[in-house]
Amino acid sequence: MSLIKFIELNQRGDERGYLTVIEAQNNIPFNIKRVYFLTSLSPDLPRGFHAHKELEQLAVCLVGSCKVMLDNGKVKEWVTLDSPSKALRIEPRIWHEMHDFSKDCVFLVVASDFYDETDYIRDYQLFLEQAKQ
Ligand code: TYD
Repeated sequence: MSLIKFIELNQRGDERGYLTVIEAQNNIPFNIKRVYFLTSLSPDLPRGFHAHKELEQLAVCLVGSCKVMLDNGKVKEWVTLDSPSKALRIEPRIWHEMHDFSKDCVFLVVASDFYDETDYIRDYQLFLEQAKQ
């Protein structure tokens, strides 16, 4: 099964523009405790390079585009995010990296829990060892 799992967000559009909703336990499968977003990104400065132990996240490129690499310790898969209606699931224990941000990229993340550095696995060798268990 692919590591790339999208949730399609329904865009309510009319002549005034689009309204797109992310609603906890309705069109996404977890409660939202935190929202953060990345702006003023550089094409040559990738981000991420970690996995989470428990955290569930969804990533949406609201403006522009970027490439995301997901890795479960066995396979790596790449996907381009370039639509505000496509939310990419970043599940626990998936190493993720964001690359090739367009200059205008606005990258939104909704998360199932508060920021907790102890939930991070930032060492790739440790991630690989834990992925084998
Ligand atoms: P970092 O983990 O380096 O970001 P990325 O995964 O995009 O590469 O986070 C940058 C800084 O922001 C770091 O000092 C941790 C801090 N931070 C918070 O304080 N709260 C948060 O919710 C997040 C995601 C990061």
